[in-house]
Amino acid sequence: MQAVMAVRSKSSKAWLHEHVNDPYVHQAQKDGYRARAAYKLLEINEKDKLIKPGTVVADLGSAPGSWSQVAAKLAGKKGRVFALDILPMEPVEGVSFIQGDFREDAVLAELEALLDGRSLDLVICDMAPNMSGHAVSDQARSYHLCELALDFAANHLKPGGHLLVKVFQGAGYQEYVQAMREVFAQVQVRKPKASRDRSSETYLLGRNKLGE
Ligand SMILES: C[S@@+](CC[C@H](N)C(=O)[O-])C[C@H]1O[C@@H](n2cnc3c(N)ncnc32)[C@H](O)[C@@H]1O
Repeated sequence: MQAVMAVRSKSSKAWLHEHVNDPYVHQAQKDGYRARAAYKLLEINEKDKLIKPGTVVADLGSAPGSWSQVAAKLAGKKGRVFALDILPMEPVEGVSFIQGDFREDAVLAELEALLDGRSLDLVICDMAPNMSGHAVSDQARSYHLCELALDFAANHLKPGGHLLVKVFQGAGYQEYVQAMREVFAQVQVRKPKASRDRSSETYLLGRNKLGE
């Protein structure tokens, strides 16, 4: 028991050390972003120009809200951001938020009611399940969320719209890329600098949703 606690406290110390020394954490505090994740979206957007004034965006797995902050700022008053998370999220100006589990039909229906027939230009999905530590089931639960996001994007993006989605490399990755290729003209991989090298996290960008 003591050995387990020692390992745990060693790893939480390592996490704290990394967090305290992380330049993106400092930058986020300076820039007023709620999470260092903001810089992942900013870097991808710098390259891919996904969000411009007027862009209509859905942000799936939005809490604590740094991607919503970035999206609302870049989309401006003429754009719209619809955000959803299972956890509560402090309000962000210009963002309509729903709290609920994206796996539930009733929550999807609530988001669809909020869209009120509008088609989206962009879906961004940074959803990640709470990790249980059991790698196989964590990976499966993560891809289940990604599949739901792809389905949502296929149903609600305009032809020509884009999906940016976080995935974890490993089992299910190739099949998911293949499923994205059926919906989008191009599928590209993005690994922004703020995404830690040791993490198997990567982002897939589906560009130009194919027409019906
Ligand atoms: C890495 S965080 C997102 C960070 C966010 N992009 C930001 O910049 O602040 C992943 C989020 O996915 C959410 N999430 C996980 N499973 C979910 C589900 N089934 N439905 C909705 N949100 C979920 C978590 O609650 C968590 O807030």
